Amino acid sequence: MEQFFQWKLVNNGEWETKINQEILLSRTVCSQLNLSCPVHPEFSLRFCKQVMKLLEASGEEVNDQLYDCLQRDLLSPRDGRYFKSYFVGDLAISLIETKQIISSGTTGLNTWTAGIHLSRWMAGLPDNWGQDQTILELGAGTGMTGIFALKRFPGLKEYILTDSHSGVLDNMKENLSVNLTAEVNYQVENLDWEMDEVGFSPDIVLGADIVFDTRIIPDLVRTLAKLLERGAKAIIASTIRREETYEFFLKELDCKSLTWTNLEFECQEPVKIIKIEKIRYKL
Ligand SMILES: C[S@@+](CC[C@H](N)C(=O)[O-])C[C@H]1O[C@@H](n2cnc3c(N)ncnc32)[C@H](O)[C@@H]1O
Repeated sequence: MEQFFQWKLVNNGEWETKINQEILLSRTVCSQLNLSCPVHPEFSLRFCKQVMKLLEASGEEVNDQLYDCLQRDLLSPRDGRYFKSYFVGDLAISLIETKQIISSGTTGLNTWTAGIHLSRWMAGLPDNWGQDQTILELGAGTGMTGIFALKRFPGLKEYILTDSHSGVLDNMKENLSVNLTAEVNYQVENLDWEMDEVGFSPDIVLGADIVFDTRIIPDLVRTLAKLLERGAKAIIASTIRREETYEFFLKELDCKSLTWTNLEFECQEPVKIIKIEKIRYKL
């Protein structure tokens, strides 16, 4: 049912002939998760109609609950706050997202592939990872990676989620408050790679799907170099969409005396995760 919560066609539209309506509804449209963090009504509506069509085709009576959901979705405003929910390890993370990949002039109102995979990679780390350390995330977008890390590693000293777009920062704050309790220690900060000032001194820098545009890569790498000056390390996950862009990023790292190593990670998608550190020259 994970596909339902991510607004994807469930089972590719193929269903077993016999649908147990009660179980299906209780795990999707009528689930507690969907009631507290609802998927977009257009998606839910399409889902309900598809289930109805299948039930009618097989001559089965349609459950009243399904009609209720249909009515609820028809009446829901299209421009409300809707969620996508991600399941990583045994954690569920519900994020307010837009339907468009680019909206309000930013890519940060959607969760990107590398953000999900960086969380998957972190799921395999020991429970005491980052114990008493300060983590800073660059281009944190919807907050997926940060929320996952904060739930998974309660021993972190502090987690600073950064981005440069005010709408993204506001949306991120809302996502953080929906998913985390008030005691969790995080900060949301504006950090634009194009600005000279980088007033943070973290122990670990994280980033997911932030390597995407050769015009901005030199500024991104300059920011990384400043953050890593005092011995911090960075873990950057990237979906390789254009080899040339990624190669350019690696060359820029070399130019700034930053060394990188590939981290082992099993993934069906073209995602690479690297560890970056400042080269220390011996005198
Ligand atoms: C492709 S999204 C990835 C978001 C998130 N890390 C994820 O994996 O879902 C790229 C992010 O980088 C941010 N970004 C773009 N240019 C930036 C800049 N100059 N300084 C800081 N953040 C920037 C965007 O606002 C967006 O949130």
